[in-house]
Amino acid sequence: MGETLLIKNAAELVTCSGSAPKTGAAMNDLGIIHDGAVLVEDGIITKVGATAELLSAITGPVDKEIDAAGKCVLPGFVDSHTHFVFGGYRAEEFSWRLRGDTYMEIMERGGGIVNTVRDTRLASKQELKELARKRLDSMLALGVTTVEGKSGYGLDLDTEIKQLEVMAELQGEQAVEIVTTFMGAHAVPQEYQGRSGEFIDFLINEVLPVVAERKLAEFCDVFCEKGVFSVDESRRLLLAASKLGMKSKLHADEIVQLGGAELAAELAAVSADHLLHVSDEGIRKMAETKVVATLLPATAFSLKEPYARGRVMIDSGVPVALASDFNPGSCFTGSIPLIIALATLYMGLTPAETISALTINAAAAVDKADKIGSIESGKQADIIILEHPSHLYLPYHIGVSIVETVIKKGKVVWS
Ligand code: NIG
Ligand code: FE
Repeated sequence: MGETLLIKNAAELVTCSGSAPKTGAAMNDLGIIHDGAVLVEDGIITKVGATAELLSAITGPVDKEIDAAGKCVLPGFVDSHTHFVFGGYRAEEFSWRLRGDTYMEIMERGGGIVNTVRDTRLASKQELKELARKRLDSMLALGVTTVEGKSGYGLDLDTEIKQLEVMAELQGEQAVEIVTTFMGAHAVPQEYQGRSGEFIDFLINEVLPVVAERKLAEFCDVFCEKGVFSVDESRRLLLAASKLGMKSKLHADEIVQLGGAELAAELAAVSADHLLHVSDEGIRKMAETKVVATLLPATAFSLKEPYARGRVMIDSGVPVALASDFNPGSCFTGSIPLIIALATLYMGLTPAETISALTINAAAAVDKADKIGSIESGKQADIIILEHPSHLYLPYHIGVSIVETVIKKGKVVWS
């Protein structure tokens, strides 16, 4: 037996166990064990159950014990959609939006993503890495044990690779596990203005092969949006990426209804994200094909847009995940407490559905539900402990974190 960790006496052990991703009523079933305990051996969960039973099943000594009496224990949160590697800031654009300009108006007059592209191209890899590391540290303190991160602020070969390398290097240098996504199709760069199709050709011919060869990304994502990349261009890119072994994600139906959700279902994408303006048909098709709908309420909040129809999606059988979309333009926050507040107060999700959406379904959104997202025997020991006895204290505490301890692969990494 290797290094062991025992967490015992948890007032509420939220396991989120069961088949994944969770859909419909199963999202409300958190698999709670009262007075629960977890045994971890060499970073892997080996026993889960009631404390009394589990203690009697343990034969040898354990290396470390945590008494979680009066506390709630849950799987670590998975933030399955972020853009955390970028240079520069766009605070002035935010002030323009407060004045009434829309996100797309700013983009159309040459601002938005391309501003961050300029600053990210100018930044050294070391500068980007230090900024990104700080952002990961803040996420960890909120209970995030796995994060997905996208490139897409380079839009040229060197800078896209630089962003992906930053994530590859940070993997293992700090506690948050990183799932990497290539999003070269995040905007049309100035040098390809009005030639989005040619830019897609460039990505397919010049960039994707390098990303694949160097195994720098597990997923490929695209901003499928009116005035950015069409459904046909998105399809072409994602099919080319898929031939090289990358799985698909889409920024779908965020600003207008374009058929992004339908495309996600057609391509059997792992997730379709945003979906503020998804059609009924898109919802039906995503439910049928079990594409994870990753909803990003902090972006809707920050853009003052209506929230995605999360209630309808869950009731229609779509597996729903929640994520932050942390980025320098539409949503400068990785706040899990804010997401929990918005999902419960404004999207009609129950506290239990919200937790399923941030754990097991978010793990499914990065195709890792077999390894993380729940507290079950055989899974990686990514666990958080709250300072209060029940998961109901999460939405009840508005905008502040009640995470007390964060455990990654069986080790306490933040407390
Ligand atoms: O998910 N919609 C496109 N991408 C980001 C925004 C990125 C940015 O504005 O820098 C999003 O909202
Ligand atoms: Fe995004």
